[in-house]
Formats: sequence, structure tokens, C-alpha cells
Amino acid sequence: MEPTTPAEPVADAAIRIDSHLGADERTLAEDVLDGLTRPFKELPPKHFYDSRGAQLFDRICELPEYYPTRAERTILTDSAEELSRLTNAAELVELGSGTASKTRVLLDALSAAGTLERYIPVDVTESVVRECAAELTGEYPGLRVHGVIGDLERHLDRVPPAEGSRVVAFLGGTIGNFPPGSRRRVLRKIASLLGPDDHLLLGTDLVKDPEILEAAYDDAQGVTAEFNRNLLQVLNRELGADFDPDDFDHVALFDAEHEWIEMRLRARREHTTIVRDLDLPVHFDAGEEMRTEISAKFTAERLQSDLSAAELELVHWLTDPEELFALTLSRPAGALAEPGAQRVD
Ligand code: SAH
Ligand code: TRP
Repeated sequence: MEPTTPAEPVADAAIRIDSHLGADERTLAEDVLDGLTRPFKELPPKHFYDSRGAQLFDRICELPEYYPTRAERTILTDSAEELSRLTNAAELVELGSGTASKTRVLLDALSAAGTLERYIPVDVTESVVRECAAELTGEYPGLRVHGVIGDLERHLDRVPPAEGSRVVAFLGGTIGNFPPGSRRRVLRKIASLLGPDDHLLLGTDLVKDPEILEAAYDDAQGVTAEFNRNLLQVLNRELGADFDPDDFDHVALFDAEHEWIEMRLRARREHTTIVRDLDLPVHFDAGEEMRTEISAKFTAERLQSDLSAAELELVHWLTDPEELFALTLSRPAGALAEPGAQRVD
């Protein structure tokens, strides 16, 4: 398959894109059928990211209230050289890569160290994977990009086998968007992509003052509200639903018990929407809320226990000066020298 809009002509050999989201993709329909017929309506967040959703997310990253992107970029900038030294990575696999804006900091360090050969972005949004492959092969001469368009919960086994030492980066706190059970499942699958000398670089947002947290998900300009309501447009377009986004208010609240932010859409009035392609009427009471995302906030303890459940071992804990966000480097447990442990180097 050809990249749709290469920035400039690039050697074909530099780019390969595999798509695992076929035309018969049913997950949106299945998620809507399951999620909107539950007593407490809910949809998984991966459906936010159509091309408009991806654009809105990029705007969220620039908002004054949305600190995670800036904090994570600061950590990356301050430690990219060290990370490149610790990992010696020949390839960078990036999960939920989006527009890969922070990734360039890592790619810069790895290419300066002379180890980098291949970048493997994995994302559900086809357009961002294709655009990013074209841009990066232009920006980093000699870099091969093997894009994987797919769902992290279903297609991680399609990530191509490692050709050299590998870092898997999962930035932006996206791991926190999976509920705890799926989160552990995803982490276990990620661990299976790693050989004994490979590393996971994981970005997680930290527990903090609820006011700061809630503002980050409910900005004054209303960009996050627009992003949240864009989900309804996705349902209208993809499944012939007749949602009026103006029928819903954006809600962001910190659940202190679970230590996660919840995003919801709250019906302003009682109404029934028809999802035509599913022949499904969906009734909303006035004030009824539908959950569209959770974003878990971590403590060092919570992160440690999630990592060890996936048989990963923390190597390095990095944070920004304000301790808003954490970037951790971990590796398969048992990979460190231990009596009787097999080392593959
Ligand atoms: N890594 C970037 C983008 C984060 S936004 C950053 O740190 O700024 C989350 C990204 O993950 C989006 O690009 C979205 O398309 C992707 N994503 C979310 N859920 C996904 C899933 N289940 N499978 C694959 N990609 C997913
Ligand atoms: N991974 C991001 C986060 O949890 C995703 C995100 C940021 C998001 N703001 C959002 C998702 C608003 C939905 C709505 O911070």
C-alpha cells in the first residue's frame, strides 16, 4: 500500500505500512451495541481519534491547562541522551504514536548516538500513521519506518519481530485510558514484545491536586469539550446515528477512590437517538451521563505493582521538576544478572 500524502518523494523501501483494521471492522458497532445498552452507558476512548479527533487532541496538547504533554516533553528533553545510552536502541516501537511530536526528541538522541535503524509507530488512526511515516523518513535519512495500523488490545502480536535492541515507548499517559484489568493485559502483551535486553519507556500521569487534574480535562477554551463531543459525530458518520452534539454537556471529574479522571457526556434533555445502522434506539434521561473515558493517575506504588504484574522490572524513574508526570524505563524481570538466570549477552 502506498502512503497517501508523502511530504516529498521517498524511497519506497524506507516505508512499510501494515493495516489490520479491515473494511469489515465491527468493533465500533459492537462497542456501541454493548456500551449504549448498559444501565450506565459507556464507550471505549479509542473511537475518539478519527482525523478530526486527532487534530483536536493536538490542540489539547497545546492548552495551558493540559500540563502532561509539556511535563513529559521536559523529561524527555532532559533525559534523552541518558535513555539512548541505557538502551542502545536500534529500533523504537511507539504505541499510540499519534503525530509523534515528542518522539522526535528520542529519535534525535538515538540517531545522534548512531544506533537507530527503524521506527515502528502503532496506532488506530490510519491517517496519522501514514503522515508520520512520510514525515519521519524525510527528517531522518536512512531511517526505516514500519507503521502498524491496529488496535493495541488486539494487534500487538502483529508488531514485526525485533531486528536489534528495542525500546517500546508508550507515552502520553495513554496506558491510563485502559481500565485496570485491560491495562494489565495490555502491559503483559507489551512485555511479550521485549527480549531480555529490550526496554519499555512508559509515560504515566501522577496523582495530584484534583483542581489541576480537572482543569486539564475541562479547559477554558472548550477544546476538550469539543473533543469529547466529537465522539458523537463519529457515531453519526460511521453508524448513521442522529446525535445532536448540542444535546450533551462535557463533564470531567476526578474519582478520588479510583484515582482516575472520568470524562462523560451528560444529556441536557430527555431524548431518544436512533443508531440507524444497528437499528438501535438509545434513550437518555435528562441529566443522564455516558462515560467516554477514564484517565488513571498513578503513584509510584501503583505503577510498580502494574509493572510487576506484567513481569517487568523498573530500571529508572524520571520525573519533571514539579513531579507532575513520570517517565519510567523498565525491562523484563529476571533480565538483570541473577544467580542461575540466563543472560543472552
Ligand atoms: N503519543 C501521543 C498521542 C497520545 S493520544 C502523545 O503522547 O501525545 C493517544 C493515541 O493513542 C492516539 O493517537 C490514538 O489514536 C491512539 N490510541 C488510543 N487507543 C488506542 C488503541 N486501543 N489502539 C491503538 N491506538 C490507540
Ligand atoms: N492519554 C490522554 C490522557 O489521558 C488522553 C486525553 C487527554 C483525553 N485529554 C483528553 C482523552 C480528553 C479524552 C478527552 O490525558
